[in-house]
Formats: sequence, structure tokens, C-alpha cells
Amino acid sequence: MELVGKLNRHLANWFVMYTKLHSYHWYVNGSSFFVLHKRFAKLNRYSHEVIDEVAEQILVMKNTPIATIAEALKLATVAEALDSATLAEETNVKNSEEMVKQIIIDFRILIIELTEIIELAEIQKYQGIADMALGIQSKLETEIWKLSSCLTGE
Ligand SMILES: [Fe+2]
Repeated sequence: MELVGKLNRHLANWFVMYTKLHSYHWYVNGSSFFVLHKRFAKLNRYSHEVIDEVAEQILVMKNTPIATIAEALKLATVAEALDSATLAEETNVKNSEEMVKQIIIDFRILIIELTEIIELAEIQKYQGIADMALGIQSKLETEIWKLSSCLTGE
């Protein structure tokens, strides 16, 4: 896959993460509600920033960033959240732990993709893209550490 293809796949994944983090922000419950409700909102806002940044880098390359949810779902490699009815039914602490675990899985997928983007961007001398990808990657690594630390028994 070419660099633009990888960037568009990454963009697609952030479209999914944006919606998933919003849904987790709304449906999280249990004793960690206040902490996670806030954290998911913060990560949702970060998704918004990354979507804009990645799309604009694709435009800088004189290419075409995906711009619809349908396109995003075709390309995405991270899974959507469970539907709202299912999330609303899960009213215990397990629900919040599952959400945290799921986000960690998703962020690990994104980190692998970012490594591929960094390698390709450096070879093709797109230093701006490599720097952007490195910044996102290091943010996700920090978030994985923080999210893992809030899981009980891990
Ligand atoms: Fe809110």
C-alpha cells in the first residue's frame, strides 16, 4: 500500500475512533464513571484534531482524503463500538473495563499503522508526515500506559 493509502486508512480509523469514543463517553457507567466520562471526551477531542491534521497532510500531498463515514467504514481496520442498545444494557463496572480494554486494542492497531507510515514517509522524504505520525504514536503510547493503569488486576 502506498503512503497515501496508508494515511487514508489511518484517517478512516480515526473517524471510527471519534464516534466510538463519543459513544463510550455517553454510555460508560459504574464507579469510574466520572474519570472515564472525562477521559473519553478528551480522547474524542484528540480524535477530532488528528482527523483534521491527517486529512490536511493528504491534501498537502495533492491527494484526496476520505470525507464520508461510508468511505471510512470501507477502509477502517478498527471495529466500531457495539450498538447503543447493547451498550445501554450493560450497566455494571465490567462495561467500563471492556471499553478501556477495547480502546487499548484499537490504539495498538493504530501504533502499528503509524510505524508503517513513519517508515514510508521517511523513505519518501515526507518529513512533515513522519513527524506528525511520530507525535500521534507517542501520544497513543502514553494513553495506553494511562488506560492500562486504571484496569484492576493488571
Ligand atoms: Fe459530553
